Amino acid sequence: MTGEISSVIGGEQAADGREYDSINPSRVDEVVARVRLADAETFSSACRTAAAAQREWARVPAPVRGRVIASIGRLVEANAEYLARLVTREIGKPYAEALGEVREIVDTCDFFLGEGRRLYGQTVPSEMPDKNLFTFRVPVGVAAVITAGNFPVAVPSWYLVPALLAGNAVVWKPAEYAAASAEAMYRLFAASGLPDGVLNLVFADGAAAFEGLEAALGEGTVHKVGFTGSTEVGRRIGELCGRHLQSPCLELGGKNPMVVAADADLDLAVEGALFSGFGTAGQRCTSLGTAIVHESVHDEFLGRLTRALAAAEIGDPAGDVLCGPLLDHRFASRYEEYLGWIQPHHKVVSGATGRITAGNPRGDFTGEGGLYYHPVIVDGVRPDDRLFLEETFGPIIGVTSFSTLEEALELANRPGYGLSSSVYTTDPATAFRFREGIGAGMVSVNNSTSGAEAHLPFGGNGKSGNGSRQSGMWVLDQFTRWQAMNWDHSGRLQKAQMDVADIVPDVNFRL
Ligand code: UN1
Repeated sequence: MTGEISSVIGGEQAADGREYDSINPSRVDEVVARVRLADAETFSSACRTAAAAQREWARVPAPVRGRVIASIGRLVEANAEYLARLVTREIGKPYAEALGEVREIVDTCDFFLGEGRRLYGQTVPSEMPDKNLFTFRVPVGVAAVITAGNFPVAVPSWYLVPALLAGNAVVWKPAEYAAASAEAMYRLFAASGLPDGVLNLVFADGAAAFEGLEAALGEGTVHKVGFTGSTEVGRRIGELCGRHLQSPCLELGGKNPMVVAADADLDLAVEGALFSGFGTAGQRCTSLGTAIVHESVHDEFLGRLTRALAAAEIGDPAGDVLCGPLLDHRFASRYEEYLGWIQPHHKVVSGATGRITAGNPRGDFTGEGGLYYHPVIVDGVRPDDRLFLEETFGPIIGVTSFSTLEEALELANRPGYGLSSSVYTTDPATAFRFREGIGAGMVSVNNSTSGAEAHLPFGGNGKSGNGSRQSGMWVLDQFTRWQAMNWDHSGRLQKAQMDVADIVPDVNFRL
């Protein structure tokens, strides 16, 4: 066991609160960390602490803040294997993927350390002489960041790094079931020399965090909410923020389509479907939802994918496997509900379903002590099926067919999410028509739905989010506000729109 961990507010441990055990999902009897969960008042007091620390932090020159981000990147890089092993142990993510996840933090730091020396504003011409106009990016204040545990360190870094760089303070509430990974990440950030109170870590359950957030918004100590999680909770957070005239940064669920055109390289498409459908045990917000396959290649694609899945390794995430266990008990039981959406008109082409046990093994693998599930391919999903319309976080994908690209796009957009999408084709016209017609924030061509790079805008539309974007320079609009300044040095009051020189054209002029 890693030990007992608790919230850190203003650099001090807040050791009170209900106990929660974060377990290893590949050996559920093993406790990775005993966590003290804070109450709503502790959450809102963390926001007050952050608000007090933020003023000084905003005065630190941005290039110096950039150097702190550089240090965070170096510290994460130097501790990459340790952190990745902890992520694997705590949420069951295969080690190679966990190492990739840690790399994503370093990439994010690499991008933003330079932003410290940019964070550009503009000089803008005035309509009057002896007057200058400027824009400045100013930090929003305190960001409350609530994150899921499927990417327990990379996705939080997408919020924390740009928010801190831009001069904000942060209160971070990670998922309880990924608490040890979050605490390790917090310690790496703290070791960079961030002043106490600028980054605060609060372990709390969803209800306490929501209540604490509501109080903090009322007190005016939170100015931006970042949330990665379910559409259902995202709606509630959106409503709450809306009442306080704030627009949160929401990164929600997905039902990500992959369209396989008649001219696609099928082996490539199969490889992409395997990785995005079953990598991370299908628990990415960018995981494949439904493969929409041209009717002329449907049977061939399905046959090859089914064989590839049968040959794939499922097991101990410390090893070289495609799929480890589900994240936690909560996710396993929810996944069992999704399995209940399989109907008589569906064809499960992948074999057994449900938990892998001695009585329901996968070859020699009996899933001993872990939250392992059979990966499932369901052919014949129809546009009105729950399996087609709703996110099914876990190792299950649907397959259907189409005849025209218009029909494929209609199917792809139908669930009303809009995070990621993919098209496999060898025809550039199909690729561009797909891009134009798809409602998703992210489009892959001849690549899977998951695995976005850390410096392109990440985010979705519809049920996947409110149009906010993370990553790259685009996320700066989440964590800064534009301030416009005008400076008149003419020595008199020049009135905009009125005291403006008028150069009169000869409107009757003709050649
Ligand atoms: C998520 O699951 O919340 O694009 C994020 C990807 C990863 C991030 C997923 N880089 O699949």
